[in-house]
Amino acid sequence: MTQRGTPQPSIHWPMALTQVIPAGMVTLRSLHRRDGREWMALRGANAAWLNPWEATAPNPLRPAGGFPEYVKAMTKQAKAGSAIPLVIELGGRIAGQVNVTGISGGSQLGGSVGYWIGREFAGLGIMPTAVAMVTDYCFDVRDLHRIEVNIRPGNERSLRVVGKLGFRDEGLRARYLHISQGWRDHRTFALTQGEIPEGVLARYLGSDQAPTRDQAP
Ligand SMILES: CC(C)(COP(=O)(O)OP(=O)(O)OC[C@H]1O[C@@H](n2cnc3c(N)ncnc32)[C@H](O)[C@@H]1OP(=O)(O)O)[C@@H](O)C(=O)NCCC(=O)NCCS
Repeated sequence: MTQRGTPQPSIHWPMALTQVIPAGMVTLRSLHRRDGREWMALRGANAAWLNPWEATAPNPLRPAGGFPEYVKAMTKQAKAGSAIPLVIELGGRIAGQVNVTGISGGSQLGGSVGYWIGREFAGLGIMPTAVAMVTDYCFDVRDLHRIEVNIRPGNERSLRVVGKLGFRDEGLRARYLHISQGWRDHRTFALTQGEIPEGVLARYLGSDQAPTRDQAP
């Protein structure tokens, strides 16, 4: 961990992080244009699973753009230090995505984590592992102060992810994000740097919430 008050550490992009869990090797890595076919196939097959929780554009006239434009925009933000858009792989197959967005500097030094996984990969402990990995990265490498996750109150599976990792419940934000074609209330969960001294991933994997051999596919 770097000292408070020192200049921001340099931004590493592209980047990759790995962790082995009973389900296999979880890799978080930079999103690339060449992921388009596999990424779109996974999201196409999971449209009904993802739609209730997906961010949407409040202004429908805004041009949607395709996967290459999405990667270009996210890569630009990654290089500028305002986002960390990562594909999640399990054993080399794209399983989902975890993004840190809205990374702020100045006196806030925080960001929001968003995520999704394909249904066939659900229940293996992949997302708590991925969120723990990226949160530790934000605190230890990027020297951010605060990471938050915003979840619709009815999203029980996602509430389990932050519950397993010990994020603090900071309460309800009314009509906070545009999701599934409307402004939706969200519960905000957060951690600040140093709040879990042993690290979010180490604490999760050492807890009774960690994925077990029974959760290997
Ligand atoms: C929320 C989500 C990311 C969780 O990822 P995950 O890797 O499955 O996380 P976990 O393995 O910890 O499972 C979380 C919960 O999902 C449920 N679950 C378990 N197996 C499951 C399966 N085969 N299918 C669906 N849900 C299952 C359980 O309630 C589990 O909690 P438990 O471990 O206490 O029983 C995933 O369900 C998802 O992508 N959902 C759709 C998109 C979404 O909600 N994104 C988040 C927006 S805030």
